[in-house]
Amino acid sequence: MARLHLIGAVPREQDLYSGAGTDFYDRLVGSDRAEIREVLALARDAEGPILDVAAGTGRLTVPLVRSGKRVTAIDLSDDMLSRLRRTLPDHAMLECVVADMRDFSLPRQFGLVIIGATSITLLDRAGRSLLYANVRRHLAVRGVFAFTVAGDASAESFSVSRDREIEVPGPDGAETYLFSQQVEEDGAARLVNWVRVADLTEGGEVTVLTSRLRVLDHGVLSRELIHAGFAPPAVSPVRTLGGEDIVLLTTTRTGCAEARDDDASR
Ligand SMILES: C[S@@+](CC[C@H](N)C(=O)[O-])C[C@H]1O[C@@H](n2cnc3c(N)ncnc32)[C@H](O)[C@@H]1O
Repeated sequence: MARLHLIGAVPREQDLYSGAGTDFYDRLVGSDRAEIREVLALARDAEGPILDVAAGTGRLTVPLVRSGKRVTAIDLSDDMLSRLRRTLPDHAMLECVVADMRDFSLPRQFGLVIIGATSITLLDRAGRSLLYANVRRHLAVRGVFAFTVAGDASAESFSVSRDREIEVPGPDGAETYLFSQQVEEDGAARLVNWVRVADLTEGGEVTVLTSRLRVLDHGVLSRELIHAGFAPPAVSPVRTLGGEDIVLLTTTRTGCAEARDDDASR
């Protein structure tokens, strides 16, 4: 980030989803109600338990459990899941499992598998291929697989590197953070960073919370799903308060499951 260079601050990178990042993420998006309505509607029709993939601190998991559903929440970050466990301590309808969405094995199948907050964009092509194979193995015969991704209107904002200041709710009122997006791989990926302005000192070390995301559209993901043995997905808009353009892809397994399963296990 230009501002760090200017004052000679030394960046110390920290994953957005562990350690101090966990608290920040919760403050940044914890109160965001986007996707919850759509996910609860899918859950109402689901036959069997629900798998929340990359569940994080439980923004979607908590309302699902509170609506009476049995939910397994998986996430790579124990720090994120610890917060979820603290929100619903020892809840009989919740199971939290630290696992990689590219490689997980659970002892049951699910009526609904969801991935919220466009988290599928955390994975590269090889990672998404592994994810699809794992989801298919864990999806009940009439189960539904649903996930969100940015809609077409977001493409422009993802294509340029930019810095801006944002206000994030804190324990003692709003705090100012620098947000920086760096476009990489000719626009195929973007690195997003956040720095607390109050932590910036000349020549001092400063924590930079960071995450790397692929720039994907629903057309690409729809083709990947079909190739991975899912039906052509339904694509529907997600209602958001801030006007962000997000779409929900909803699909099921196709009949050629066995051949594809064999492919995936090779
Ligand atoms: C954007 S957050 C989404 C959290 C939550 N679903 C929500 O809607 O707020 C992304 C989550 O994906 C998790 N994650 C990143 N890579 C992962 C992987 N390979 N497998 C499982 N979880 C992963 C992160 O730890 C983080 O909790």
